[in-house]
Amino acid sequence: RILDVSPTLVEKHSFKHFMLKEIHEQPGVVRDCLQAYINSNWDGEFEAQTPDELHPISVDINQSPIELGLSDELLENLEQVQILACGTSWHASLVGKYLLEQLADLPTTVQYASEARYAPSPLRPNTLTIGVTQSGETADTLAALSMEQQRRLNAPKQFKPRLLGITNRPESSLGQLVPNLINTRAGIEIGVAATKTFTAQVIAFYLLAIDLAWRRKTLPNSRVQELIKGLRKLPSQIELILNTQGTKIEEFSHQFTDTRDFIFLGRGINFPIALEGALKLKEISYIHAEGYPAGEMKHGPIALLDKEVPVVAIAMPGSVYEKVISNAQEARARDAHLIGVTAKETLEESDVFDEILPVPFVDELLSPILAVIPLQLLAYYIAARRGLDVDQPRNLAKSVTVE
Ligand code: G6P
Repeated sequence: RILDVSPTLVEKHSFKHFMLKEIHEQPGVVRDCLQAYINSNWDGEFEAQTPDELHPISVDINQSPIELGLSDELLENLEQVQILACGTSWHASLVGKYLLEQLADLPTTVQYASEARYAPSPLRPNTLTIGVTQSGETADTLAALSMEQQRRLNAPKQFKPRLLGITNRPESSLGQLVPNLINTRAGIEIGVAATKTFTAQVIAFYLLAIDLAWRRKTLPNSRVQELIKGLRKLPSQIELILNTQGTKIEEFSHQFTDTRDFIFLGRGINFPIALEGALKLKEISYIHAEGYPAGEMKHGPIALLDKEVPVVAIAMPGSVYEKVISNAQEARARDAHLIGVTAKETLEESDVFDEILPVPFVDELLSPILAVIPLQLLAYYIAARRGLDVDQPRNLAKSVTVE
């Protein structure tokens, strides 16, 4: 069942590498995924009758906004969620934790599958266990899920396994192991460094978190609709970034071809994007890169900073914007070359940056999907300028089927 696709069977078209093609496929992937799983009934109108209350005019709020095909038995009376994953899928899961906690009020843990196998957490009742793996074949993720299933089967009734897989390959070993799946529908990904499958996994988490929020009544319906409207805008916003930033990032990446270290900073829901930006860069360019929560920089990484170490700060509008800007200023005071990923509307305030990679203004909760795009392009163009084999980086494999 291991993915056996010869790159010659998939066309690169005009793109130099599959990775670049797959980065450019993301608007379509997001669009398809939303189309498949959002109930179009929720695209209707709400009307404000009083300043605080929105009433549905054409939306049937009794119909689920999201149609993932998941049963009540799987999702009812949940008390927590536990997520098991590796690599980039682990980063998507960290965004998922944020969404499940903030939108659906569900305490969520995210474990590296390779760690969970040997240090399982204490069993808790009414737990949804989610395995996230784009290939559906990662040995550690399968083993951790299998172990969780076994120990729950042997435990009292309220601990019974409730397993859900998020994968790009429903026909994979994961599909055989778990009874419930969300198919991320991103199409075949050839580049070893995951791009479009990451975005699709994050979209899957939005959909799951909104579905759970609606079932658990943790959000007003007007907020559910606002999020759905925001999700629907993402494909054209990603297109805008690709069309306006690609050439610029290609040009400015030449200055980093000899750089040895990079630091990526983010906070809140964009901390996992800092991790993902750093991982993309190290995977394909072999430049050492660290992702850090911006507020933790003062507890270590700040000692690394000087003019030779570029710092990428993800400063999206929202609850932690000023905090990230102030962390970026601390880096600047140490002569670091500062690159900001931020929304156009906040450019005036962010003259702290040497370079800005602007993205459209967006709801903070949706911002990871936009923030990751310039970071994928940055990693790609730096690696391509270094003349490296971007699609097949040394020592890495697309699916790791051994422990
Ligand atoms: C390998 C790949 C990574 C990927 C990880 C997890 O290490 O090189 O890009 O993130 O496996 O893969 P999965 O298929 O489980 O998402």
